Amino acid sequence: MSTDNDKGSHPSSSGSSLPLGIHRDPFERVLEQAVEQSRQLEEGEPAGYIPELRNANLEHTSAAISLADGSCILAGDAQEHRFTLQSSAKVVLLAGLLEEMGPDKVFATVGTEPSGGSFSSVARLETHGPSPTNPLVNAGAIALCSLIPGDAESKIAWLRRWVSNLYGRPLPVNDRVLNSERETADRNRAIAYFLRGSGAIEGRVEDILLAYFTLCSFEASVEEVSRMACILAQGGVAVGGRRALSSESASSTVSLMATCGMYDESGSHLLRTGLPAKSGVSGVICAVAVGKAGIAVSSPRVNAKGGSVRGHSILEAVSKRLEWHFAFGKAAFGQAALGQLDPGGASS
Ligand code: DON
Repeated sequence: MSTDNDKGSHPSSSGSSLPLGIHRDPFERVLEQAVEQSRQLEEGEPAGYIPELRNANLEHTSAAISLADGSCILAGDAQEHRFTLQSSAKVVLLAGLLEEMGPDKVFATVGTEPSGGSFSSVARLETHGPSPTNPLVNAGAIALCSLIPGDAESKIAWLRRWVSNLYGRPLPVNDRVLNSERETADRNRAIAYFLRGSGAIEGRVEDILLAYFTLCSFEASVEEVSRMACILAQGGVAVGGRRALSSESASSTVSLMATCGMYDESGSHLLRTGLPAKSGVSGVICAVAVGKAGIAVSSPRVNAKGGSVRGHSILEAVSKRLEWHFAFGKAAFGQAALGQLDPGGASS
């Protein structure tokens, strides 16, 4: 199943930028096989600490690959599966602030090193803080929400603008998930009050948290998430040549996704896939095949590190089959896109 900008908000894909001789069929085949294979996995659980996330359909499994010409290849339940972005949206916050405030300001507030700890660690702020180790753990994203100017309303308006810029259209906020998180956010409240108490951030903590929870509660499909990832893959350039981000903002965001995006499984993830990525506890993972494509996978059973179990499996299969590991050193589109895959060979 593939879409060529069928929702009208992206320019036509005529004049494809795929190199001559490269066909979409192998991408479709690889993605569909990867999704179907992942359905055998039943480990993991939906993240129960945000009660509303427990209501997800556990069998929903979807994936999308967006290419620079504007086409998008969908697989699995991509048409009907919607989910909240959760931490995958932290890349939007980071990229938007890098763009508007510059790296000096952003990296005076958060570091650029992997934390080695869990995404909601409070202890690491005491031992390695008070500034968060990086922008992609909860403490880092909460600290970055403090930099967005104004009260809660202005911060949320800023987020809506950047969501729209990078996902290609405005996204709705899922109020059930937002309220569910607000009612159960003891750890994030502890982090935010600790950050302010230690002088790492300024401002009204409840405004900052409302902006952060809203960011996590934007709702999307894999198609939309893969289009955002494709902008990062193309150095900040969206379909049709619109520059959504500077090359510097895009490359800094992708670098931090590579080193910190999957928390304390960032190393093993990069080793297996070679795809800088960012997980969300709803089960989404957005991933970047630099210079090639944006990928999104989603399925609600997550492991102890907050990464989707089926999502991991799909990304690993896609990276392997399309030879998209950044360090693999093969031709840009690999054997698969050149039509050299043996039919049905998904398991190799
Ligand atoms: O702040 C939280 O705990 C959630 N809204 C987001 C955490 C998350 O997605 C972790 N990543 N996998």
